[in-house]
Amino acid sequence: MNRILLLGKNGQLGWELWRTLAPLGQMIAVDRQDLDVTNQGQLREAIATTSPTIIVNASAFTDVDGAESKPQFARAVNRDAPALLADESRQRNIILVHYSTDFVFDGLEKRAYVEDDFTNPLNVYGKSKLEGEQEVLGSGAIAFIFRTSWVYSLRGNGFVSKVLRWAREQETLRVVDDQIGSPTWARMLAELTALALHQALIRGPDWLAEHRGIYHLAGSGAATRFEWAQAILELDPRASEQRCKALLPAKTDEFPTPARRPAYSALDCRKFEQTFGLRIPPWHESLELAMSGD
Ligand SMILES: NC(=O)c1ccc[n+]([C@@H]2O[C@H](COP(=O)([O-])OP(=O)(O)OC[C@H]3O[C@@H](n4cnc5c(N)ncnc54)[C@H](OP(=O)(O)O)[C@@H]3O)[C@@H](O)[C@H]2O)c1
Repeated sequence: MNRILLLGKNGQLGWELWRTLAPLGQMIAVDRQDLDVTNQGQLREAIATTSPTIIVNASAFTDVDGAESKPQFARAVNRDAPALLADESRQRNIILVHYSTDFVFDGLEKRAYVEDDFTNPLNVYGKSKLEGEQEVLGSGAIAFIFRTSWVYSLRGNGFVSKVLRWAREQETLRVVDDQIGSPTWARMLAELTALALHQALIRGPDWLAEHRGIYHLAGSGAATRFEWAQAILELDPRASEQRCKALLPAKTDEFPTPARRPAYSALDCRKFEQTFGLRIPPWHESLELAMSGD
């Protein structure tokens, strides 16, 4: 029986993984209050005492703007913790699943990014996540890194929840139409992770060793933030509560933020689909499912 140590169980993705991974083994799910991943001694001890066969790391410092003024903290969570997890995984023959971001790219590409495209992060968060990837890859562990993008969940305060709230508070909404990405429903990301992990476990150690590495895993297709907001408003099951009468396109320059963001960061996920024999639903299809309720 597999024992799965899940880190970050209360995050957007972690909460969904807690449910979708449960059929694959005994879950040991923790979050910051149980185990701070920046406490390296505690992290090593937790791995020694729980003795997992699989570690899934959904913990991360994801405050992109906040990371600009807290680079050390961002690196401790996004680089040093994954480095330790990978080191322990290699020593103890544990399978590691880790997540990274489209923000490792600079956004200058004109087509969806593939896994070995040139990386050049524009902000501290992206740099810390890229360094985390490099540590995991360099460790020699059996590790799968899923790079994802524009993750949302209807729990918490992500983009979808914000748009729904703004639409109830304001008559006019302005959303940028010069940032393009792949909106990704946390629940779909968790389901696809579980299915892929299940496939990998069935195929065994040689297959795992041969196929470890980076995979892009995000909602299929691409949208501007404006198009995404438009779809959210259209699919709102309680649209009658909206005060918003106009959704208007805006430019990134009009909303200065501490961190620069890539203008284009759609991900090409064909490697994941082909390797694991899975279909990743188009982002709009997943949004429709997400918004149709639990
Ligand atoms: N959100 C996005 O748009 C996006 C886009 C691309 C890639 N990703 C990647 O996808 C993965 C999942 O992201 P998400 O959206 O689910 O993130 P999230 O909602 O911010 O969840 C991250 C979790 O990590 C926990 N955490 C942070 N610092 C910790 C620490 N020192 N020790 C233990 N736990 C800690 C957080 O706990 P607290 O709440 O207590 O801080 C939170 O529960 C991450 O690797 C992220 O980089 C996300």
